[in-house]
Amino acid sequence: HPAPSDEFWLFGYGSLIWKPPPHFDQRIPGWVTGYVRRFWQVCILFPEDHRGTPEAPGRVVTLIERSYWERLTDHHSSAPERVWGIAYRIQPDHVDEVKDYLDIREINGYTIHYTPFHPAPNTDLSQRSPIQALVYIGTPENEQFVGPQDPQQLAEHIFQSHGPSGPNQEYLLRLEKALNELSPESGDEHVTDLSNRLRAFMLVQRERSGDSTSR
Ligand code: BEZ
Repeated sequence: HPAPSDEFWLFGYGSLIWKPPPHFDQRIPGWVTGYVRRFWQVCILFPEDHRGTPEAPGRVVTLIERSYWERLTDHHSSAPERVWGIAYRIQPDHVDEVKDYLDIREINGYTIHYTPFHPAPNTDLSQRSPIQALVYIGTPENEQFVGPQDPQQLAEHIFQSHGPSGPNQEYLLRLEKALNELSPESGDEHVTDLSNRLRAFMLVQRERSGDSTSR
């Protein structure tokens, strides 16, 4: 049973996992293939997640086409075949409004793709064929695209970035937690490695500031 063509589904793989769009009536965990999730996008304005400042922008995740990623030299040289996230079905009478809200034109460096979404087993839709879902992709041509970065430098950059939506580190740690909660297989080693580096770095910073106050 493919999704009726008038249904509008949106796939979230970043902050949309814990910050749903308005007017959804179904929220289904699952995955897409053909992409790699990386913290390689500068965040300035979108998506309501200002985790840095224009002078010192934070980092958020984007999806990169796997065929492009395979040609790059990435310190994280493997990536799961399945990119886990959440698909939201938007109530039919609110689709136009939500498309406006999401600013369906190409915005802030994200390009729109439609891709098959696979509902996880044990969800209401697991018997259904993949569902076409809208997904935001970071194309290398856009100005906000950063590309491969040293993971330690990236974790430290996330540690020190703050913006109107809060600390960039909160975005990273929330994403790690949200992914781990979706399914036993939904963890993403890139996100976990950055989170581990962040925690280790925070500990060192705390020890250092403890040292300096105890002197
Ligand atoms: C997301 O959370 O999946 C997302 C939202 C907007 C742009 C890119 C990703």
